[in-house]
Amino acid sequence: MATDFDLSSSFIPSLHKPSSLLPISRHRESLLYLVENFPITIVVGQTGSGKTTQLPQFLEQAGWCEEGKAIAVTQPRRVAATTVATRVAEEMDCKLGEEVGYSIRFEDLTSAKTRIKFLTDGLLLREALADPLLSRYSVIMVDEAHERSLSTDILLGILKKIKKRRPDLRIIVSSATLQAEDFLRYFSDEKDDQNGNGSGSSEGRIISLEGRMYPVDTLFLDEPAEDYVARAVKTVFDIHAGEPDGDILVFMTGREEISAAIQMIEDRAASSHPRAQRILPLPLYAGLTSEQQLYVFEPAPEHTRKVIVSTNIAEASVTIDGMVYVIDCGFVKLRAFNPKTGIETLTATPVSKASATQRAGRAGRTKPGKCYRLYTQTAYESLPEDTVPEIQRSNLAPTILQLKALGIDNVLRFNFLTPPPAELIIRALEILYSLGAVDDYAKLTRPLGVRMAELSVEPMMAKVLLSASTMGCLSEILSIAAMTSLQGAVWFHHDGEKRATDTARRKFAAEEGDHLTLLNVYESFVTKGRKDSKWCRDNYLNYKSMSRAVSIRAQLKRYLERFAIDVEETLAVSKKLENVSSKGEQIRKCLTTGYFAHAARMQPDGTFKTVNGGVTLHAHPSSLMFNRKADWVIFHEILETGDKIFIRDVTKIEKSWLLDGSLSTYYQVRA
Ligand code: CDP
Ligand code: MG
Repeated sequence: MATDFDLSSSFIPSLHKPSSLLPISRHRESLLYLVENFPITIVVGQTGSGKTTQLPQFLEQAGWCEEGKAIAVTQPRRVAATTVATRVAEEMDCKLGEEVGYSIRFEDLTSAKTRIKFLTDGLLLREALADPLLSRYSVIMVDEAHERSLSTDILLGILKKIKKRRPDLRIIVSSATLQAEDFLRYFSDEKDDQNGNGSGSSEGRIISLEGRMYPVDTLFLDEPAEDYVARAVKTVFDIHAGEPDGDILVFMTGREEISAAIQMIEDRAASSHPRAQRILPLPLYAGLTSEQQLYVFEPAPEHTRKVIVSTNIAEASVTIDGMVYVIDCGFVKLRAFNPKTGIETLTATPVSKASATQRAGRAGRTKPGKCYRLYTQTAYESLPEDTVPEIQRSNLAPTILQLKALGIDNVLRFNFLTPPPAELIIRALEILYSLGAVDDYAKLTRPLGVRMAELSVEPMMAKVLLSASTMGCLSEILSIAAMTSLQGAVWFHHDGEKRATDTARRKFAAEEGDHLTLLNVYESFVTKGRKDSKWCRDNYLNYKSMSRAVSIRAQLKRYLERFAIDVEETLAVSKKLENVSSKGEQIRKCLTTGYFAHAARMQPDGTFKTVNGGVTLHAHPSSLMFNRKADWVIFHEILETGDKIFIRDVTKIEKSWLLDGSLSTYYQVRA
């Protein structure tokens, strides 16, 4: 054996490149000094400079977790929280969930031992409900603050308040772009009015980690691309054929486009000449399972060029090494809430210049790179400088409910980093009022409003859950709430097997609509599929998602039990009880108590019109109500793609239910 000396097996490759090579390591002492001496530290550094993974470790080593305190690091995205926690646990050589853990909605992997906790910004806000001064934490790092997610903005406002009562608390705001001055000014405004100069503030300092960046050549199209997915695929193969080694990162706007692009790349790779260098396309978007995500981070096999086709996730919050070429489609899917129609849309919107720059920067991390923009230079010049912060384009009902539960009654006077337009606040208050969460004086009602704020589902579903026990269908509503929380990840979409999927789905179909269908799926899963992942495969169901639904349901149930609401477990539908249809009716009535504002009526042509008659809606192809007859319906979700507005999770109701009691205070239903 010993004579058979094999070089490759006698050296064990190091798992990670030493973190001492990261730009941040040179700033270790200054960072610790600032955190020690100032309540606020703003850290600015290129993506990949080590802010998220290293800074918490520096703090931990410097003793910031003594006496049972912990460090919280918030992320706007769930994926970022989990991947980064995994990485830091590896670096610290501990089991994930022990010293290092993460906590995202419906999933908590932390323990009493946890010293560094990664969590979504929304979840930290939720923790403030139970622990208003966030006293568990010695340091709170608000990461990716430049993304200006709705929860980040609110969290900054809450931290600003907490800071006044907790001089010991250390706040770190980290950002990949140069909004640093704004953040510092925000935190120092009252005390430092006189000098008005952020950098000299007694409250905090800005530190910049000039990460090493290689030059990135930016290329534009001469003429606008007609179909940027096809164009991106063509560009991938042009790079593959003509450019030296290096992985490719493609920015697309969403899952459908990503799947289409990957399919096209695979097809074309299969039909082209077998060559020395292969091509490996991989998707990256928020709904992926954790295993699927891991592929993305693994280095490609030898002689293989990795092509990651990603949503905006890869723009800043997730670091993938080895990217040399970036292809930018120039669009991003943004949520926007129209306070007039009450419709939330997810629309592909041109990126901002700041985003485009950030995307291009992904190519220059390890060596000089190239960025191919699938738009013209003229189009680039006309892009907005920055993306509109989420707080200015969202349905604020959940946020305002939460602010009120945190004791901030006068939301108009809350110190927002950027104030939302008044119409958004007014609309949110209207929604909350109609749901009974706030009273005539816009005060949170007890117990309803307070409980709605505590439940970790959006207000309409919270209302439904809290109505369910008096309507005798709590067990079923819990299952439905859990299933709708999966946001469409229930079914597996095998490419090219759409018909088989549809047939499988039909087995669970309930005449009354999608919610009862989801209930059928859930109940069949717990009775037949839970111990048998084959059952899920046979029925084209996603086993992971279904298991998640079981866990979400258990958590929602615990909340209700905390409110002393008993849950009597029943399996209504699959037991084929005599009173199934009356149960079904109760369930649909119960859903209407929360979703009356999402009511619509079917038109002779099969489309739907909103209650006030204004907008034409289409049942989403994934809905049971696609191509079926109905009269009045309510729906869970609304999304706009292209020029059509789709509704998803649609259930038949009776018009008279909309007129019942409080519901009619919201809308004057027109026949
Ligand atoms: O937060 P920031 O963008 O400044 O950097 P980071 O996420 O802390 O990443 C620092 C370095 O760790 C990156 O350059 C990657 O090389 C590495 N990293 C990784 O390999 N895998 C991860 N899941 C996270 C980071
Ligand atoms: Mg980071």
